[in-house]
Amino acid sequence: MPADSNGGYANMESPYNNSAYSQSQWLEKQESRSKRSKCIVVTSLIALVVLIAAGVTVGVLLSRKHSSSSSSSPSSSSAATTVGPSGVVNQTDPNDPSTFVPDSRLKHSFYGLAYTPAGSQLPECGNSLDQVIEDIQLISQLTSRIRLYGADCNQSALVLEAIERTKVNMSVWLAVYNVPTNATAYSEQRDKIVDAIKTYGTDHIAGVTVGNEFILDYLSAYGDGTDTPNGPIGNQGAALLNSNITDMKNTLANMGVSLQVGTSDAGSYFNNEVLENVDYGMANVHPWFANVSIDQAADWTYNFFQTQDVAVANALPNAPKMYIAETGWPTNSSDAGNESNGPSTASEPNLQTFLDTFVCQANQNGTDYFFFEFFDETWKLIQFGGVEGYWGLFYANKTLKDITIPNCEID
Ligand SMILES: *[C@@H]1O[C@H](CO)[C@@H](O)[C@H](O)[C@H]1NC(C)=O
Ligand SMILES: *[C@@H]1O[C@H](CO)[C@@H](O)[C@H](O)[C@H]1NC(C)=O
Ligand SMILES: *[C@@H]1O[C@H](CO)[C@@H](O)[C@H](O)[C@H]1NC(C)=O
Ligand SMILES: *[C@@H]1O[C@H](CO)[C@@H](O)[C@H](O)[C@H]1NC(C)=O
Ligand SMILES: *[C@@H]1O[C@H](CO)[C@@H](O)[C@H](O)[C@H]1NC(C)=O
Ligand SMILES: *[C@@H]1O[C@H](CO)[C@@H](O)[C@H](O)[C@H]1NC(C)=O
Ligand SMILES: *[C@@H]1O[C@H](CO)[C@@H](O)[C@H](O)[C@H]1NC(C)=O
Ligand SMILES: *[C@@H]1O[C@H](CO)[C@@H](O)[C@H](O)[C@H]1NC(C)=O
Ligand SMILES: *[C@@H]1O[C@H](CO)[C@@H](O)[C@H](O)[C@H]1NC(C)=O
Ligand SMILES: *[C@@H]1O[C@H](CO)[C@@H](O)[C@H](O)[C@H]1NC(C)=O
Repeated sequence: MPADSNGGYANMESPYNNSAYSQSQWLEKQESRSKRSKCIVVTSLIALVVLIAAGVTVGVLLSRKHSSSSSSSPSSSSAATTVGPSGVVNQTDPNDPSTFVPDSRLKHSFYGLAYTPAGSQLPECGNSLDQVIEDIQLISQLTSRIRLYGADCNQSALVLEAIERTKVNMSVWLAVYNVPTNATAYSEQRDKIVDAIKTYGTDHIAGVTVGNEFILDYLSAYGDGTDTPNGPIGNQGAALLNSNITDMKNTLANMGVSLQVGTSDAGSYFNNEVLENVDYGMANVHPWFANVSIDQAADWTYNFFQTQDVAVANALPNAPKMYIAETGWPTNSSDAGNESNGPSTASEPNLQTFLDTFVCQANQNGTDYFFFEFFDETWKLIQFGGVEGYWGLFYANKTLKDITIPNCEID
């Protein structure tokens, strides 16, 4: 099982074939790839108005596109300079990432987004601050909340630095991707998070998540196919996970820092002893993996989350707050054989349907979710194949897929 911050999905299939969980087969990821190229050509209307008064000439650059947010660019006499490393975001001041120009196709309609900076998997880290800044410029036009999966490759610091430089309103749930077989994976990532908190403070940190599908992976590795999350093997895994969760709580307390500590897992793999030890749980709820057709996907997601996660958590003494950690729809597959899962089919039109039937409705009825995910993650395509690398709202090159983002402003 990979010790990287996103892996582990490859192990998700066996538990889904277990009849005891026939209803619980969705996991995570995928990417949606909608490529409807809605090339919206943005026409910038520039009017140069020269006002002459008392012998003073003032040049005013007006741009319809920039009207609400551009900062003054004193010497500029033409359109914004393209600066991002992928060329998909313009800034009016190349040296100030906070002067990025909004893209009218993007709407601030998502409660949250699942995000991992490219190049954040060990052993080869390839991420960079410039790339993360460009990501945050795009993401901040869609949501005020992101969740990470791990802390390898300095990603916590990069994201917090990018939030500072772009000056956007963004809260991030930092995370440790710990594994049962490598104590160093936990302690190294914990220490990265401690460093990031010392450098950046907690203003932009909403919580620290310890574990990504830890119990699901534990049962896959050590169970016999009939074990349940609250059975003896599940409790064994829970004890290991809880040791790390408790250590994180103690570490933060010793720093004098007050932050929520939680865990994330597949929606039907929460262990009660773990839930009783956290402030929040994040549940992956995936209609595509559960063989749910696109027509029923949004309702199914809502109902599953309410009955399997929210109700279960509310029945515990501490009633931890529950989020949907991941939900979304894939848009493509590395091979035709994996494009459909029963009646669920990966396609951009189906992602559009899921966006249209889930996002604004979930905002209205108070489902707190992290849409899965920001962009297509190439490493997953390479490592896992199938639909794994195709769950993004954006392609891997940060071009928006052929989708229309729903328009329902949420804080
Ligand atoms: C960036 O600016 C260039 C030049 O004005 C323009 O052609 C391009 O469409 C802009 N890109 C975005 C994403 O705004
Ligand atoms: C981690 O990222 C921060 C923010 O960019 C940077 O200041 C720091 O030097 C980085 N640390 C390492 C080890 O790359
Ligand atoms: C973290 O968990 C791993 C096993 O999952 C364990 O080996 C290690 O001792 C734990 N570390 C701490 C500090 O809790
Ligand atoms: C354990 O995790 C550390 C840090 O993530 C990594 O450097 C090391 O290679 C891992 N060890 C094994 C045996 O996978
Ligand atoms: C809440 O929103 C979901 C979409 O997430 C929708 O399917 C469901 O019917 C809504 N539930 C209620 C009670 O409004
Ligand atoms: C869809 O997946 C196939 C196989 O991986 C790939 O060749 C193709 O480029 C993908 N299409 C898009 C739009 O990403
Ligand atoms: C989902 O559909 C696939 C066939 O595409 C099948 O192999 C799998 O068993 C189905 N899973 C469930 C839970 O029905
Ligand atoms: C793709 O399909 C094959 C055959 O159905 C299956 O064995 C494999 O696990 C699938 N791969 C993924 C990543 O879903
Ligand atoms: C971005 O990637 C998509 C999907 O592979 C492709 O269709 C598109 O042409 C790429 N855009 C650019 C600007 O390279
Ligand atoms: C910033 O985002 C939070 C949600 O994380 C929201 O509650 C708050 O109102 C936002 N603040 C501003 C100034 O937009």
